[in-house]
Amino acid sequence: MHSENVATRRGDAAMVADVQAGLVDRAPGVQRELPPKYFYDHRGSQLFEAITRLPEYYLTRTERLLLSTRMPEWMGVLRPGALVELGAGNADKTRTILDAMRAARDDVVYVPVDVSAAFLDETAENLRREYPGLRVEPVVADFAAGLRLPHGLPRPILYAFLGSTIGNLEDSEATELLAQLRRGMARGDRLLLGADLLKDVAVIEAAYNDTRGVTAEFNRNMLRVLNHELGANFDSTAFAHRAFFSERAGRIEMHLVALEDQLVTIPGVGRLMVPAGDSIRTEISNKYTPTRLTRILAAAGLRPVTWETDDAGGYALLLAAPSA
Ligand code: AVJ
Repeated sequence: MHSENVATRRGDAAMVADVQAGLVDRAPGVQRELPPKYFYDHRGSQLFEAITRLPEYYLTRTERLLLSTRMPEWMGVLRPGALVELGAGNADKTRTILDAMRAARDDVVYVPVDVSAAFLDETAENLRREYPGLRVEPVVADFAAGLRLPHGLPRPILYAFLGSTIGNLEDSEATELLAQLRRGMARGDRLLLGADLLKDVAVIEAAYNDTRGVTAEFNRNMLRVLNHELGANFDSTAFAHRAFFSERAGRIEMHLVALEDQLVTIPGVGRLMVPAGDSIRTEISNKYTPTRLTRILAAAGLRPVTWETDDAGGYALLLAAPSA
């Protein structure tokens, strides 16, 4: 039992460093925080899948609708040879794009990019089975650090960054990531970006405070991930889910609020005290105005060339091109 536990712990040095910096090495009064990537172990990914099916969570459904209505036309005009999908996610998004690309030409290559090799292998295998003749070339990378693409991809390349994952980043970080991507883009290449927009705050807040409590469970799962991966002893049930819209920052913030004083031991890091009422911020999810999004793109050397929102104007799907 004990050895099994130890064997399944990654004890990941990067994770230890993130936890140390975000929770322990904090000046008094500075918000504790953890990176949202730590939501997504197997259970966390399943909880996220469940979130995407919630009535309150409009993002996934709206983006899917925009993709299915716009892709045939956009891909018919652009005729990309390769789809490079960042954070290679949800297979049915990918299929909608690939179907439209393959209707326009028959030499399409799919390049899913993700940090998880296991996840990529599964995705690649499924797609090869489903699309006989499709060339699938997965790339294991933290794409924020720069991308090394396979040689000889048919041009132009369509980069896809969907699901409003960009919203997890501060504007400066989003700019940096897009600028990094832009460096590898040729004139004819395009970025397909999905981004959640600023709208009625009640609608936004409901999406992160579902009545079934799935988002609360997803939020608390991060503490379980720390327990499994690092051997920490967080009592996840002693933290309340809190998600609210910050008008000032134009974003949702998700927090875990200690219901009572929490003294936690994190091997490799040390001891952590979270006083009752204090919180750990686990995620930001930015909600953009078109102006703000355009400004981020421009700062990264990109300009929107095609832009579509749903009827309510709550979500944007756009194609961006290198600006010069
Ligand atoms: C996957 C980052 C786009 O910010 O809406 C869903 C994650 N967090 N519910 C988002 C999430 C809480 C989601 N993203």
